[in-house]
Order: sequence, then structure tokens, then C-alpha cells
Amino acid sequence: MQPKQKKVEDSHTIMTELIMPNDTNPLGNLMGGNLMRWMDIAGGICAAKHSEAHVVTASVDHVSFEKPIKLGNVISIDAKVTRAFNTSLEVYIEVMVSDITGANTMKSNHAYMTFVALDKDSKRPCKIPELLPITTEQKRLHEGATRRRELRLILSGRLKPKDATDLRSFFGELE
Ligand SMILES: CC(C)(COP(=O)(O)OP(=O)(O)OC[C@H]1O[C@@H](n2cnc3c(N)ncnc32)[C@H](O)[C@@H]1OP(=O)(O)O)[C@@H](O)C(=O)NCCC(=O)NCCS
Repeated sequence: MQPKQKKVEDSHTIMTELIMPNDTNPLGNLMGGNLMRWMDIAGGICAAKHSEAHVVTASVDHVSFEKPIKLGNVISIDAKVTRAFNTSLEVYIEVMVSDITGANTMKSNHAYMTFVALDKDSKRPCKIPELLPITTEQKRLHEGATRRRELRLILSGRLKPKDATDLRSFFGELE
């Protein structure tokens, strides 16, 4: 029997990787696709822990790469659930980069990813526990998640702007 509500800490996931030659491009920088793969893995583990089920990636919001991550750097990928909806959940993923000694730590990038939990027998989307936000930051991310969800469902063609609640007026002129 699944719990009705879970906390962010129950599924908080941190994944660390050392950038090796096979992860880089000819300039010696981490390939963007490798970083996105690791973000997807960390986010998926976090989402599966919250859901207590297998999950699939439904969408990835905007990801930008501002500074190159270099061969020999260490990255830490931090994944936390921001909100659970019905069968889907949003995970905030933040990437920090540092030297191997732990010096020069800085934020590299972040993304919001949406995962959907699947029932193990039917392989169809299944209900997941709610998220109970506790801290001010967790509450802020929890509140913003409904707007981000509307935006990604509109952009993926799954929601008509006229049926949106928070973003209807924003898209009004485009209809
Ligand atoms: C994601 C998937 C399971 C949704 O299946 P579906 O039949 O459309 O299911 P539903 O319409 O019931 O939607 C299920 C949930 O997914 C969410 N969802 C579906 N597409 C979404 C998208 N593009 N962005 C965000 N959420 C999405 C819905 O909002 C719904 O969430 P809710 O239950 O919390 O309200 C299905 O599209 C799928 O299997 N996609 C492939 C996933 C995959 O293989 N990922 C790896 C790619 S390599």
C-alpha cells in the first residue's frame, strides 16, 4: 500500500560523475548529450523512488549550456521532486561542477523534467503519492509547478490554451 503523501527528502537523489575522455568532444569538453543522459537517469531514479514504480520520461523543459564542463571536472547532479500530479511528477534537476579537489564549485545548469509512473502489470500510467512541501523553497517550487505544467502541456499540444487556467490570458492573443 503506497503512502498518501511523501516528502522531498524521501526521494532526493544525488549522482556524481568524473568527466572521462570518452564523455568529451574533440575540444575536451563534456558532450551535452552525455550530461542530459545523466540528468535523465538521476531524475528518473528520484521519480521512481517517489512513485514507488517504474517511470518513463514524458518531457524535458528548456536546458541551456552556459559554460563548458571540462575533462577531469566532477559534476554533481541533484534531483528533487517539486510536485506530484495524478500519474505524473515534476523533478527539478540542478548540476554543479567543480575541480576534482572540490574547489571552484559553481552551478552549471538546471532543468525541469516530467516523469510518468507506470503500473507494473498494465504498463499504463498509475496514481502516485502527493508531495508534501515543507520548506519555503519547496513551497515556492510546488506552487510554480502548476504553471510550468500548463505551459508544457500547451507546447506539446495536449492542452488547448483556452482550457488553461493560469496561462489562458497569456496565450489569448495567439488563438
Ligand atoms: C508518457 C506516456 C506514458 C503518457 O501516456 P498517455 O497515454 O498519453 O497517458 P495520459 O494521457 O493518461 O497521461 C498521463 C500523464 O502524463 C502526462 N503527460 C503526457 N504527456 C506529457 C508531456 N509531453 N509533458 C508533460 N506531461 C505529460 C499527462 O499530463 C498525465 O499526467 P497526470 O496524470 O499527472 O495528469 C506515453 O506518452 C509514453 O509512454 N511516452 C513515451 C515515454 C518514453 O518512452 N520516454 C523515453 C523516451 S526515449
